[in-house]
Amino acid sequence: MAEFEPVLLAQVGKRDSHTLAAYEASGGYETLRRVLKEKKPAEVTEIVKASGLRGRGGAGFPTGLKWTFLPKDHPGPIYFCLNADESEPGTFNNRILMEDDPHQVLEGLILSCYATRATTAFYYMRYEYPLAWERTCRAIEDLYKAGLLGKNIQGSEFSLEIVPHRGAAAYICGEETGLIESLEGKRAWPRIKPPFPAVEGAFRKPTVVNNVETVACVRHVLQRGVDWFKSMGIPPDPSNARDAGSYGPKLYCLSGHVEKPGCYEAPLGITVTDLIEKYGGGVWRGRKAKAAIPGGISMGLLTAAEFHCPLDFNGPGKFGCLGLGTAAVVVLDETVSMVDFLHNSARFFAHESCGQCTPCREGTSWALKMLNRIKAGQGRLKDLDLLLEIADNIGIIPGTTICGLADGAAWPMKNAIRKFRGEFEETIKRSNPKGWAETNAVPALVTIGH
Ligand SMILES: Cc1cc2nc3c(=O)[nH]c(=O)nc-3n(C[C@H](O)[C@H](O)[C@H](O)COP(=O)(O)O)c2cc1C
Ligand code: SF4
Repeated sequence: MAEFEPVLLAQVGKRDSHTLAAYEASGGYETLRRVLKEKKPAEVTEIVKASGLRGRGGAGFPTGLKWTFLPKDHPGPIYFCLNADESEPGTFNNRILMEDDPHQVLEGLILSCYATRATTAFYYMRYEYPLAWERTCRAIEDLYKAGLLGKNIQGSEFSLEIVPHRGAAAYICGEETGLIESLEGKRAWPRIKPPFPAVEGAFRKPTVVNNVETVACVRHVLQRGVDWFKSMGIPPDPSNARDAGSYGPKLYCLSGHVEKPGCYEAPLGITVTDLIEKYGGGVWRGRKAKAAIPGGISMGLLTAAEFHCPLDFNGPGKFGCLGLGTAAVVVLDETVSMVDFLHNSARFFAHESCGQCTPCREGTSWALKMLNRIKAGQGRLKDLDLLLEIADNIGIIPGTTICGLADGAAWPMKNAIRKFRGEFEETIKRSNPKGWAETNAVPALVTIGH
């Protein structure tokens, strides 16, 4: 493998990196100009497909393949939604790209729209990102003035409007069909699929939804080529027919109990240990690690003994986690109570469940009530099995909900209790010496401050 050279973060930290002048001075928009002259949209899609690029927003779906699901020769408009809602806990890579290098994202977006023949792109940005919003809006204005957006871009037949749209400040707005509903002015309730957005999406038109980092990668695939992209990462696992490989650079968000939290670029497949030691300066205050979430809280938990886990699309699944998710690693040191961790996680998901599906709405709030009770010193050992029963029965994977939020709520419960059961049992026995073995019903709701 060639020596790794960061590309996604190459301009971050440089003077005026968010301006059009600085971006063009570093070779920005040369790829767009060349592609518009030399390639047809279908050829661009083929290149992205051949690169093996997989979506960086959480699900890891192959990007080029997703684009081919759009109807051929569709007579009406095709829409592109850029998913910049970024609300998975621990995740901030999109923010850094949008604040410090908004034109890199926009060049990738314009190229992606060209490939998919989209004529309008909705740039759906997380509400709580005011600087990214301001810089992106300014960058879009500058592109119109420079003839890089609008009608017949650079004299080509390709025209594109980009419509910035500020998000509705809820986690569920990042789920692609929740995002579309929100964009249409409604409550962000995810839609039942099929139809998938590629067939019927925003305003009932064929729509592609991609993440900010995904389109930034598109720009580099088209600039540097498929071989460059595939020179990094992990090839498909021959024992897993569903693994499409994990190629290219990836932005890893590292936070929690490390000396140097931050957003780091590395080839897909770096291990948790290497990320913490080589980039994060080790676990903070000379302490030991206890666990880490591998890719946003919804992916579950790795124990410190599992830190050799490679952070590619296939890696965390081999250690009982849901997947790579957003590759946001949060490190928990030896002083963290796993009961507190799970209580925090349960509060988040109970609050963010949109409420459409009974297993998710009731399951997440029931789990929170039990964890409230455990924290109030009234937990029973039986509660741990009840929590696992909830976790095993909510989500798309058991087939009981519309969207993946419930799977995201389930995985921290499954991993925390199965991997740290002794600590949960010890906490329950210590804090509820008279009632921990109780098997009869006890009051479900104990109100403690939260
Ligand atoms: C509850 C939930 C929240 C999500 N939040 C985001 C998000 O904030 N940003 C994002 O890109 N994808 C998010 N996703 C994934 C999107 O539904 C979708 O898969 C993604 O935007 C597709 O883009 P990609 O293929 O480029 O990754 C979320 C999914 C779920 C189930
Ligand atoms: S799984 Fe939860 S968040 Fe997703 S649609 Fe159902 S109730 Fe809403």
